Amino acid sequence: MTPLPIQVVAHRGASEDAPEHTLAAYVKAIEDGADALECDVRLTADGHLVCVHDRRVDRTSNGRGAVSALELSKLAALDFGSWKDREESPDWRDREFTSVLTLERLLELVADAGRPVDLAIETKHPTRWAGQVEERLLHLLKRFGLDAPTTPAGSSVRVMSFSARSLQRIAAAAPTIPTVYLMQFLPLRMRDGRLPAGSGIAGPGIRLVRNHPVYIERLHAAGHRVHVWTVNEPEDVDLCVALGVEAIITNRPKQVLAQLGRG
Ligand code: G3P
Ligand code: CA
Repeated sequence: MTPLPIQVVAHRGASEDAPEHTLAAYVKAIEDGADALECDVRLTADGHLVCVHDRRVDRTSNGRGAVSALELSKLAALDFGSWKDREESPDWRDREFTSVLTLERLLELVADAGRPVDLAIETKHPTRWAGQVEERLLHLLKRFGLDAPTTPAGSSVRVMSFSARSLQRIAAAAPTIPTVYLMQFLPLRMRDGRLPAGSGIAGPGIRLVRNHPVYIERLHAAGHRVHVWTVNEPEDVDLCVALGVEAIITNRPKQVLAQLGRG
């Protein structure tokens, strides 16, 4: 059987060129030809899922405070673009492109993309909310018809997390949604290639892959797919190709696609 091409996933959108997790970054990623979009999700104080990486908004906006302590209306008044402003990117100054991005808006963008675009959604530190993040996430995916393996638009969704507990919640409530167990270091108790129950995909960081390439062979031998983050350097792309990983998660989807001969 011919292996599928490596999937190129835009990490926080095309986040090298545009401010991470904004509509500008995801529109650019789709224009660049990314196969899939990666995003982190957090719950606001009034229960909306928004795409923000850090616990606080300080680094990526002109505001201050924890996402979990702010209501969506407060977040919507902030500017998530100007910290990365560049002359050549006038769209970023349009408020719609640089205000806080709700997961709902991102799902609308994917639905309107005009071609299948997958989503890799990462639940960030979800234990604090005791299942509410996963509950809201599944509710939203269901509304968009994205909780089934094959969706009307041909896009599919997977959920990623460093928290095995979070993935178990997803697997228990929606067993058809693939889950990706993220790892920064070699998991000592699972170095033979096993993953936590319910996860079929491993998500190692590129440093782990560089330091322990044989671990990728073990994951494959155990029947798991491998999605590597965050792969920005050409030599790391080559390493991922040589190891036969299934997805490359990168801030530079355009450059990686070009390197893979798909530009
Ligand atoms: O795609 C997984 C990767 O995003 C995990 O690390 O810190 O960028 O969310 P982080
Ligand atoms: Ca992430």
